[in-house]
Amino acid sequence: MAELKLDISNVFPFVTKEIISGYKKDVKQHLESLHNKTGPGSEMTGWVDLPSRITEDYVDKIEKTADELSDMVDIVVVIGIGGSFLGAKAIIHAISHNFEYLIEKKKAPFILFAGQNIGEDYLSELIEVLNHKKYAIIVISKSGTTTEPAIAFRILKNHLERQIGVKEAGKRIIAITDQKKGALRILADQRGYTSFVIPEDVGGRYSVLAPVGLLPVATAGLSIRKFIDGARTMEKRTGLDVPFEDNPSAIYASTRNALYRAGKNIEILANYNNKLIFLSEWWKQLYGESEGKEHKGIFPASVNFTADLHSMGQYIQEGTRNLFEIVISATHTDHTLIIPDDEDNLDQLNFLSGKRIDDVNKMAELGTILAHVDGGVPNIRIVIPEINEYHLGELIYFFEKACGISGYLLGINPFNQPGVEAYKKNMFALLEKPGFEEETKKIWQRIGR
Ligand code: PA5
Repeated sequence: MAELKLDISNVFPFVTKEIISGYKKDVKQHLESLHNKTGPGSEMTGWVDLPSRITEDYVDKIEKTADELSDMVDIVVVIGIGGSFLGAKAIIHAISHNFEYLIEKKKAPFILFAGQNIGEDYLSELIEVLNHKKYAIIVISKSGTTTEPAIAFRILKNHLERQIGVKEAGKRIIAITDQKKGALRILADQRGYTSFVIPEDVGGRYSVLAPVGLLPVATAGLSIRKFIDGARTMEKRTGLDVPFEDNPSAIYASTRNALYRAGKNIEILANYNNKLIFLSEWWKQLYGESEGKEHKGIFPASVNFTADLHSMGQYIQEGTRNLFEIVISATHTDHTLIIPDDEDNLDQLNFLSGKRIDDVNKMAELGTILAHVDGGVPNIRIVIPEINEYHLGELIYFFEKACGISGYLLGINPFNQPGVEAYKKNMFALLEKPGFEEETKKIWQRIGR
């Protein structure tokens, strides 16, 4: 089977092959640290061999729960934020029909998401929809105490219990959380919810191959077997025994570090297929939360082409020259659509008659890469044969492995996120959460109230 390919030929005007291969020794050492659990944050590296550790029984159990949900309801609301949301959203969005809500016959339940914002309108409108539907809830939180999903869960649990009664609601709530700790674990045990465990040594943004990603993806009717297979392939391709030159995660991590040291401190992930929009969101979280520390790190941004060529394209072509670009390109599309000939040719598009829409898209991609490289923006290109479960599994593991290596090359711990506490502290102080009395006093003084 054709596999994911990495092409770095368009970074060489900006860094040399020697600079990239100069990382070889460090990368080997960092790979060993990841595999042998000896680097910073090693207690959170359970994801490294997660794909190959998933058992057949475990897949069966996830699929069985997904089938039960599918038989019971028409909608499943997945509640979570950050790493407990973005992976599942990315995979489901990438494989679903663009207009799935308008398709009459759909075997699997629709997956809706909540808990990733504190939007009163969002939750109110969701409830409006759920008032008339049969639905279930998958609530995901490793800590079990994150404010956004906890609020959404409180609201929806209450709604579901009023809709069908506490006992029946209990059958339609699945909790995915820590084995022992946190409010969600206590609640799940007390109420007897079906639950799945997020392994202690797998952090949120590295947990797509844990039940965090697997259960929502299976519930959406997608093949988690193919998804896991793809990740396993990439686990092998990026293993300890693989030479540096053949390890795509090692090459990507080294290339982006080389570019960073050459002054390129913003990396833009571009797609030419709107199905990959949420994969970009997942990727931004993975790299932003893993690497943005100690006043270091590449800022991860994303664009959706060709739409954003008519907006951000100007900046990328001619703005501050601290950017590099990474493109995910899928060779094949699911459909074929030919541009028809037009007798009048008033739109002057007859030069495209008989061509596929994707032929035009591919030339837009190639033309843009060349233009951006000419404009001073190095380009890394990732090619997958098509957007499906297998190749998304490859991509997810490829990026995770590269992020671990890249974070170590940068000299930070890619598995913690101390900076996300700052906003929470202020928010709790402003909301007068018990235990935050001192902070409340200080923050009110600071803003002059
Ligand atoms: O990557 C991470 O660790 C974070 O983005 C978390 O996933 C996010 O904060 C949600 O945490 P939790 O699953 O504990 O609710």
